Amino acid sequence: MSVASAEVDAWIADRLIGGDPALDKALARNAAEGLPAIDVSAAQGKLLHVLARSIGAWRILEVGTLGGYSTIWLARALPDHGVLVTLEIDPHHAEVARANLDAAGIGDKVEIRVGPAVETLSRMETESEGPFDFVFIDADKPNNVAYLKAALALARPGALIIVDNVVREGRVTDASSIDAAILGTRALFDVVAAEPRLTATAIQTVGAKGWDGFMIAVVNDE
Ligand code: SAH
Ligand code: DHB
Ligand code: MG
Repeated sequence: MSVASAEVDAWIADRLIGGDPALDKALARNAAEGLPAIDVSAAQGKLLHVLARSIGAWRILEVGTLGGYSTIWLARALPDHGVLVTLEIDPHHAEVARANLDAAGIGDKVEIRVGPAVETLSRMETESEGPFDFVFIDADKPNNVAYLKAALALARPGALIIVDNVVREGRVTDASSIDAAILGTRALFDVVAAEPRLTATAIQTVGAKGWDGFMIAVVNDE
C-alpha cells in the first residue's frame, strides 16, 4: 500500500479536526482576496493551539499574520482575558485578517499591528511590552534571526518560541545556498544553537503543505 503524506494529513484532519466553518470561511476569504495559500495546515494550526493551551498562555505574539488562519487557532487557545498581538507588513493582508478574526468571534482578543515587524518589535521592546508566553514566527525568513532575538527579549522564562518553515524540502541543509530565505533560516539555527537562554529542537512536517518544519524552543529559567 502506498499513500501520500497529503492524504494522511487529510485523514488525520478528518478524524481529529473536522469541519470548522470559521476556518473554512477564512481560507475562502483569503482566496477571494488574492492572498497566497501559505497559511499553516489544519494539523499544524491545531498543534500551535494545543501547545499554547498546554502552557496556559494568555499573552501570545505572532509575527506574520497573512489572513489570520494561524491567528484564529492560537487565539482560540486563550482564556477570556487573553490577548494576541500579531504583526503584518501588508495592509491588505491585515484588513482581510481583521474580517476573518471578527467573523471567527475572537476579534476582540487580537490586535493587528501593521508595519515592518522588525520596527514594530523594536518599539515593543523599548516600551517593555512583554512578557509573552508564546511566540509564533512566520514572516519573511531573512529576518528570522532578528525576530528570534526580539522574541527572546519579549518572552518570559518558560515561554515557547516556534518558527515555521525551517526545513523547506530539505534545502535548509544546503551550505552553498544563496537563497536569502535559506540563509536566514540557517543563521537562525546557528544563533539558537549558541543561545544559552533557549532549549530547542526542530521537527520536520509533511502533509497538506509539503515537506517543511517547525523549530520549537523553550526559554530557560534565569
Ligand atoms: N501565519 C500565517 C501565515 C503568514 S505568511 C498563517 O499560518 O496563517 C507570512 C506573512 O508575513 C505574510 O502575510 C507577509 O505579508 C508577512 N510579512 C512579510 N514580511 C514581513 C515583514 N517584514 N514584517 C511583517 N510581516 C511581514
Ligand atoms: C512561504 C512562506 C510561509 O510562511 C509558508 O508557510 C510557506 C511559504 C513563502 O514565502 O513561500
Ligand atoms: Mg509559514
